[in-house]
Amino acid sequence: PRRMAPVVRAEAINPDSNKDEPKLVLHTVDVTKLSKPVTSYCRCWKSGSFPQCDGSHVKHNEITGDNVGPLDLKK
Ligand code: FES
Repeated sequence: PRRMAPVVRAEAINPDSNKDEPKLVLHTVDVTKLSKPVTSYCRCWKSGSFPQCDGSHVKHNEITGDNVGPLDLKK
């Protein structure tokens, strides 16, 4: 008998932000209006203050062996 290929689902990267929306397009950032010289935006989706980076990528990288980090926007 022919075997069925297993169904493999990738793990979602967005744990809980706006899950009722089909596609999450976050903010448009006007870099001329940033309050700090450099603002870091999360690219790992683990930040507790998403979309800003809170350093949670460090733990994510330690656990997973990944090497992700924030997007830094300069004013
Ligand atoms: Fe996600 Fe820093 S917390 S990139």
